[in-house]
Amino acid sequence: MSAVSNLATTKKKITLKDLQNKKAQGHQIVALTAYDYSFAKSLDAGGVDLILVGDSLGMVVLGHETTLSVNMDEMLHHCKAVARGTQRAFLVGDMPFLSYQVDVHEAVRNAGRFLSEAGMNSVKLEGGFHMESTVRAIVRAGIPVMGHIGLMPQSVHQIGGYRIQGNTASKARSLLEDALALEEAGCFAIVLESVPTRVARLITERLSIPTIGIGAGVGCDGQVLVTYDLLGLFDSFTPKFVKKYANLRAVITEAVEQYICDVRDEKFPAQEHSSLISEDEWQLFLDDLNGS
Ligand code: KIV
Repeated sequence: MSAVSNLATTKKKITLKDLQNKKAQGHQIVALTAYDYSFAKSLDAGGVDLILVGDSLGMVVLGHETTLSVNMDEMLHHCKAVARGTQRAFLVGDMPFLSYQVDVHEAVRNAGRFLSEAGMNSVKLEGGFHMESTVRAIVRAGIPVMGHIGLMPQSVHQIGGYRIQGNTASKARSLLEDALALEEAGCFAIVLESVPTRVARLITERLSIPTIGIGAGVGCDGQVLVTYDLLGLFDSFTPKFVKKYANLRAVITEAVEQYICDVRDEKFPAQEHSSLISEDEWQLFLDDLNGS
């Protein structure tokens, strides 16, 4: 059996232990984002280890300029759909802006809703050492937490745009301290976004928990991308670190144009898309209409 078909048929649920073992064995953790049932099913069948229901939802699905407008109800709604489509991948629900920054108790309650209501296995939140007590409280409640440092999109206005982070000696030092603080607080993994490759590699080597890179080069324990970027479905803004594996926007547009032509030319629906009534029943129907 090929490696690919083996992945697609292995339905054993990925656990935190599996992710940790991958780091120990030097095997890359493969992660992607999903926001609905059908995409989750496809990613799961393809064999990704981890599915993140990211708050990138706000930009790529809901059409907002930033991730800041996404709320808990929207996140939970999409997480539920993804959970229904996933059997194998480990599921991470992204905590939206203001769902964990204001108050630790509120953060624990909101984090819990991702597991109890939406079928997620864990949550992700943005922030370094200043999030230590929040992470600690959520983990103490039995909820696995993934950290997210480097470029933190929920702080886009504070950092002045989507730009590389940790690219000076002192900023690299702070990033490492953030990562160590999150590990100490109990995170099971950390996303490193838009960080120079050498900095990400060093952080990865200093941590015992896995790092998942996005725009952080090859030195991490795994990679994540926004699926809409990878498939060429979102073109308002494409970060330099994205590799497009398909151009589905063009494929969809072409299919829609073809459908429009077929409907206008009455080529669709064809006979194979249509249903029949038997000749006898048809005659009875006509007779009935004509009152005979
Ligand atoms: O929201 C998201 O999709 C993310 C990934 C880019 C890591 O946080």
